[in-house]
Amino acid sequence: MKYFIVTYGCQMNVHESEKIAAILENMGYQLAFSRNDADIIVFNTCAIREGAEDRVLGNVGNLKKLKKKNKDLIIAVCGCMTQKEQTAQNLLRKFPFVDIVIGTFNIPNLKHYIEAVKNGRQFELYNEGSLDESLPYKRSDKDNAWVNIMQGCNNFCTYCIVPYVRGREKSRKEENILKEIKEIISEGKFKKITLLGQNVNSYGKDLEKPVSFAKLLHDICKIEGDFKLSFMTSHPKDLTDDVIYAVRDEEKIEKYIHLPAQSGNNRILNLMNRRYTREKYLSIIEKIRKEIPNCRITSDFIVGFPSETKEEFNDTCDLVSKVKFDSIFAFMYSPREGTVASKMDNQIDDKVKNERVNKLLAIEKKLQKEAK
Ligand code: 5AD
Ligand code: SF4
Repeated sequence: MKYFIVTYGCQMNVHESEKIAAILENMGYQLAFSRNDADIIVFNTCAIREGAEDRVLGNVGNLKKLKKKNKDLIIAVCGCMTQKEQTAQNLLRKFPFVDIVIGTFNIPNLKHYIEAVKNGRQFELYNEGSLDESLPYKRSDKDNAWVNIMQGCNNFCTYCIVPYVRGREKSRKEENILKEIKEIISEGKFKKITLLGQNVNSYGKDLEKPVSFAKLLHDICKIEGDFKLSFMTSHPKDLTDDVIYAVRDEEKIEKYIHLPAQSGNNRILNLMNRRYTREKYLSIIEKIRKEIPNCRITSDFIVGFPSETKEEFNDTCDLVSKVKFDSIFAFMYSPREGTVASKMDNQIDDKVKNERVNKLLAIEKKLQKEAK
């Protein structure tokens, strides 16, 4: 029996697919070369932008032929996209040959759903579940081990679907994180550990005995062994000085911070509910550059947020030119159903969004050339 996993979206999903792989291997499945020779295909989906969802729909639709050839093929779709009940139901209606549709919280129960399908249930649709820390991972990267430190997000940036599909922030206990990392290091296979969370800087605030993210970083660095430590993603409003000092002082921490700015204009940042200003963002960058001169800094930007004017977009261009990031990701704003921004007046034309994203990327490219 063979399995094939198709993963969309962020590192969090890549890491969750490592959990799915471990569940399937524990059930006796082995990794297939391609989807054509698999007995079970799992799609781990992303909902961050419409494009990500369209790709999933196209690829799931294409499996109809495979299912015709092999009636015993099991097809499962899970992750952020199918955490939305409406989307999950639409998917089942459109593609009745899909056997299992589950959300982000149900992955630990995947074995149960597969067994139900084998016993003749056509599909299962569950949207509730709980996180299970005891399940192992089948780590897929040669050098880097992902370690999840928290789930969910409390920020509700007005464009973002994440708080709706991943729930509220829930930090893992520090002792469990340290235990997992000690095990990874003692195995001796990985040179790098990357901590994952939607907003790592607010790690530990929700724990019974609160622990700061900076303390977690220092405690991990005390673990003996030759390894590098990295983390993502940081939110500018929560990136405290003690985290900057930890990156500066701890030899094991990579000199790298991913710090999404999203926009360089204060009115847009406010509409996005980012809770920092352009000036505050620039002052954090200044602080990082002063304390850690060799620190790589990268960022994310959204262009064409509802009502963004040409001048406001130019503020973003100006910020990118000023900061001279090591690299940036630039996205066209994509309305996500259920978010505040999707209901805002004055949605921007796709053509304009496209022009703006190209302009921003051209500026970035020019800066990269000049830096060489
Ligand atoms: N439209 C476009 N980009 C988005 N992002 C998040 N939500 C949206 C959306 N609705 C971007 C942000 C975030 C990155 C992971 O994806 O820039 O930092
Ligand atoms: Fe989305 Fe904002 Fe949370 Fe990041 S911080 S996951 S952009 S709501």
